Amino acid sequence: MNEDRDGVLHAVSSAVLAVTRHLSVREVLQVIVRSAQRLLDARYAALGVPDEEGAFAEFVAEGISDEEWEAIGPTPRQHGMLGAMLREGTPVRLPDIRRDSRFEYWPREHPVLKDFLGVPIHDGDRVLGIIFLSNKRTPGGFTEADQRLLTMFAAHAAIALTNARLYERSRELALVEERTRMARELHDAVTQKLFSLRLTAQAAASLVTRDPDRALGELERVERLAGEALAELRAVIVELRPAELDRHGLAETLRKQVRLLDRLHPASFAFEEHPVGVPGPATEVAVLRVAQEALHNAARHAGAERVAVRLGCEEGRLVLEVRDDGTGFDVAAAAGRGLGIASMSDRAQALGGSVSVTSVTSGPRRGTLVRMEVPA
Ligand SMILES: Nc1ncnc2c1ncn2[C@@H]1O[C@H](COP(=O)(O)OP(=O)(O)OP(=O)(O)O)[C@@H](O)[C@H]1O
Ligand SMILES: [Mg+2]
Repeated sequence: MNEDRDGVLHAVSSAVLAVTRHLSVREVLQVIVRSAQRLLDARYAALGVPDEEGAFAEFVAEGISDEEWEAIGPTPRQHGMLGAMLREGTPVRLPDIRRDSRFEYWPREHPVLKDFLGVPIHDGDRVLGIIFLSNKRTPGGFTEADQRLLTMFAAHAAIALTNARLYERSRELALVEERTRMARELHDAVTQKLFSLRLTAQAAASLVTRDPDRALGELERVERLAGEALAELRAVIVELRPAELDRHGLAETLRKQVRLLDRLHPASFAFEEHPVGVPGPATEVAVLRVAQEALHNAARHAGAERVAVRLGCEEGRLVLEVRDDGTGFDVAAAAGRGLGIASMSDRAQALGGSVSVTSVTSGPRRGTLVRMEVPA
């Protein structure tokens, strides 16, 4: 009995951890479904997040191949049992879903479902989605204990889903803010200059025959204004950077991002800062972007318990370190798998610096260290 309970607890806890480790909403949904399917030994598992138009904004399933998906056709509408569960917001456990009055039909290629267990994923009073399982592999169908387990799991899934949404939303907001600022900057700095430039060119054109000396003066102004517009444009491009950096500086911006991750992610994230003076604007952007990518990698791939970020100065060079105690990986073999590691190096090299990635897959020093060095 006790052993049983330990087994279940372990399964739930690892499922919950797997779920919370992922940051994008889509990934979170997929892991929730896969974990629930394993946890309860079901042939099929699915999760739907309803939209406002009677369909599902997201629908993910396990146990169905890509070809089967293709054959089934479009994702379901909110009808039949799924619709009923969304409206009623209570768990449903049935020995045979086809015998239930709420069941309507499914598309021709849909797998035949029999025993069925579905629970809503609640956020307070709101139903965020429904998760359901079908065709338990062990005979006898889903038990009351299964229902309790799935309900408990759904409660954790709700938290993970809400966190993932918050995280995506905060990134979106930061992006929008950045774009608005860019537009304003271009407007204020560059369009004004170009406008004067055009007026001056017109004046020069009208003076050419009448008063060549004054026309020459206007043309010199055209040249000067064009040079200024170019300089403004360059400045805006260099400034292609989060407004946060201006407001809070590099260290504070990093500290805030580390704190956000620490709150949203099951691993613990810490930030350690040593005085670095005020780096140039381009350096600040590069260090921030490298830190973001290294943190994102540690959060997504490492399965770490602790992630530490350190910002400091060594022998006149600015040093950023992101260290995790996760699984580690084969750095040479990972080359080309994604863009992240390559782009970290590119950014550092553009500033006459470098990024090194060291990873150990076993032993007490297990984990990954990303170290960036750039001239201060
Ligand atoms: N801290 C880490 N711990 C474990 N594995 C890692 C870590 N960082 C990177 N990896 C492995 O190295 C691979 C390449 O990383 P990289 O950042 O280049 O690409 P990505 O993260 O997969 O995709 P992208 O960054 O383009 O979104 C990853 O897919 C992952 O397998
Ligand atoms: Mg990456």
